[in-house]
Amino acid sequence: MFTDIYYFSGTGNSFVVARDIARQLDGELLPMAQMMKDPEIVSLADVIGIVFPVHNVVNGGVPAIVRRFLTRLETLADKYVFAVCTCGGGSGDALINIDNLVKDKGGKLSAGFTIKMPFNCPPFTKEDEQANRFNNWNRKLSEICMAVNAHQQIKIPTVNPILQTLFYPLSLMMHASIQNNYRKLSQAPKAEFDEAVRFVDQSFYVDDNCNGCGICAKVCPVVNIEIIENKPVWLHHCESCLACFSWCPQHAIFGGILSGKTQRYHHPWVTLDDMLTGNEDK
Ligand SMILES: Cc1cc2nc3c(=O)[nH]c(=O)nc-3n(C[C@H](O)[C@H](O)[C@H](O)COP(=O)(O)O)c2cc1C
Ligand code: SF4
Ligand code: SF4
Repeated sequence: MFTDIYYFSGTGNSFVVARDIARQLDGELLPMAQMMKDPEIVSLADVIGIVFPVHNVVNGGVPAIVRRFLTRLETLADKYVFAVCTCGGGSGDALINIDNLVKDKGGKLSAGFTIKMPFNCPPFTKEDEQANRFNNWNRKLSEICMAVNAHQQIKIPTVNPILQTLFYPLSLMMHASIQNNYRKLSQAPKAEFDEAVRFVDQSFYVDDNCNGCGICAKVCPVVNIEIIENKPVWLHHCESCLACFSWCPQHAIFGGILSGKTQRYHHPWVTLDDMLTGNEDK
């Protein structure tokens, strides 16, 4: 039995989850960003795991690169497919949306899990709460691996329909506000949401602490940064994953959804080298 664990991660939370699961299941750890260089992604594994961070839950929660990745997978028929999303607050319908993408590939999401990890953006998670979340993950890991080993079928969690109805007007307002924020940052007032995210890097800039080391360009999972005259230049196919912000050793990058914030986060058990192995070929 072969297991492939595909992951996307900007600041290491989903990387830790994917790496721990791959170790316990003796599976192969495969970075989605690197697989994207092939027009079609073929997996010979019987068990497929999809691990990703929730981005903008009111907009579906699944980062664009994860959606693109799933559309490029050849077929998921006859495979046991499970997904794990990491988030700071909640995953809403992200796993249901993954299930729909898996169905498009002839498969079915047999199990889906939401793991609370520290928020890597405002509202950042306080340090004592971060420690709780890391401990919870250690407990949850064996539960997930047991379920996967047993090929358990677990109902995909979704938002409670009563709460959904009650909070519908609020979620519409939040949706509009997030869209507007991205449109403002991307300087594309009429852009569709995914397009506004791609261009959100229009709002990124560096301060005088940038020394041109190039780490931001290397750590960007989708090769969206070039170093020109010792400064990063963003190329407008951003995933808004915050890797460049978080891994810059000088904390010299500002803007985007972190506008006005100086705090930066990355998972403490992950090194820069871990993140570099997951990126698209330069
Ligand atoms: C652009 C963006 C949007 C996010 N939106 C949400 C959200 O809607 N709900 C939530 O709970 N967490 C949200 N988060 C927090 C991340 O889901 C969370 O910190 C995740 O574990 C980060 O994973 P990573 O370190 O693998 O990138 C968001 C993070 C980013 C960068
Ligand atoms: S990682 Fe930071 S210091 Fe290095 S080039 Fe990028 S912005 Fe400048
Ligand atoms: S430019 Fe920065 S935020 Fe955008 S995809 Fe690359 S690392 Fe992520």
